[in-house]
Amino acid sequence: MTRRSIGIIVNGVTGRMGYRQHLVRSLLAIREQGGVPLADGTTLWPHPVLVGRSASKLREIAERHGLDDWTTDLSEALARDDVEIYFDAQVTQQREKAIRAALEAGKHVYTEKPLAEETGGALDLARAARAAGVRTGVVQDKLFLPGLRKLKRLIDGGFFGRILSVRGEFGYWVFEGDWQPAQRPSWNYRSEDGGGIVVDMFPHWQYVLEELFGRVRSVSCVTATHVPERVDEAGRTYRATADDAAYGIFELDGGVIAQLNSSWCVRVNRDELVEFQVDGTEGSAVAGLRNCRAQHRAVTPKPVWNPDLPVTEDFRAQWTEVPDNDDFDNGFKVQWEAFLRHVAVGEPFRWDFLAGARGVQLAELGLRSAREGVRLDVPELGL
Ligand SMILES: NC(=O)c1ccc[n+]([C@@H]2O[C@H](COP(=O)([O-])OP(=O)(O)OC[C@H]3O[C@@H](n4cnc5c(N)ncnc54)[C@H](O)[C@@H]3O)[C@@H](O)[C@H]2O)c1
Repeated sequence: MTRRSIGIIVNGVTGRMGYRQHLVRSLLAIREQGGVPLADGTTLWPHPVLVGRSASKLREIAERHGLDDWTTDLSEALARDDVEIYFDAQVTQQREKAIRAALEAGKHVYTEKPLAEETGGALDLARAARAAGVRTGVVQDKLFLPGLRKLKRLIDGGFFGRILSVRGEFGYWVFEGDWQPAQRPSWNYRSEDGGGIVVDMFPHWQYVLEELFGRVRSVSCVTATHVPERVDEAGRTYRATADDAAYGIFELDGGVIAQLNSSWCVRVNRDELVEFQVDGTEGSAVAGLRNCRAQHRAVTPKPVWNPDLPVTEDFRAQWTEVPDNDDFDNGFKVQWEAFLRHVAVGEPFRWDFLAGARGVQLAELGLRSAREGVRLDVPELGL
């Protein structure tokens, strides 16, 4: 068995996503399982090169995981011949210029979403990558979640008949930071630092809607900054300038209406932090991160509206759990494995920079719709 080492710059490895989901749960987990096997018997072996701003934090992470390749100098890492892939999990605002440098160095690029802050910038990166002849990818982890994969299976199996609508609830209470520390970084709440829930979540909603239900034709959105003042990591009070909730309606190909609420200012009274209810002529389903339950038309109850009577049926108990029928691995890791195969042997990978640009576009149009109070068409993007 031959082992092919692939050098991967992991920039932003000290952050929440860079460390937990990408380094530990993906790249190191791939090494623990013995690498990514290819059809010809070769195994791909990711070799992370940790990059960040703080030498002490990088050293500490490296030592914790028995790694020794780290640097605070991105250009030095990009100049290395044994590095094939640049990965970016930095704060969003730092992404575009770092990716541009990686493209100039001829590296393949994989990145967290959003690809850039504006559609124009995202398309420029897609064009630059094409001109450089390198392979690109953007994280679209939600597609690989067990709940959404079971939902996709129901769609592919024709369970719903004609799909009418999708209603999604995403959110949880993010503490203000005064009497309990906030569980998200403070830059998320400052638009001048690239924050905001639309920029954060609409790139996800774009690919979830398109891959499961159809292309997004129009968006109309209302945003709010419900909590105007928060306390940062250093205990300083700051003004929240970014949206912390977004109430969006999307019209999709085929007439499907999707209505998605995203909020960091709601308390969870759901089974999971995100849930999508899909209603179709033949059946309905509710999918979360892990679970999916369904109700077929043949077993649909017939409630009659009468506020004078107490509820007699346990509606939630009338749904059937969709079985796993499969082993579901961590979604970030599954997508990493696909990208590594894409780089190594050209296996098809459709979640590229152009796909990432569509996510940026939907966020940009969502914010504009909220600002101008109008419903906006979503033009088709191309290079
Ligand atoms: N796929 C998902 O589900 C998901 C979830 C959360 C965040 N994200 C994305 O991941 C990225 C990182 O988010 P996070 O929550 O891990 O943030 P974080 O604040 O925890 O980490 C940010 C990283 O960027 C670095 N950084 C901060 N400021 C910088 C600067 N000025 N210059 C260079 N580096 C800087 C930090 O050192 C850290 O390593 C964001 O783009 C975000 O949109 C994706």
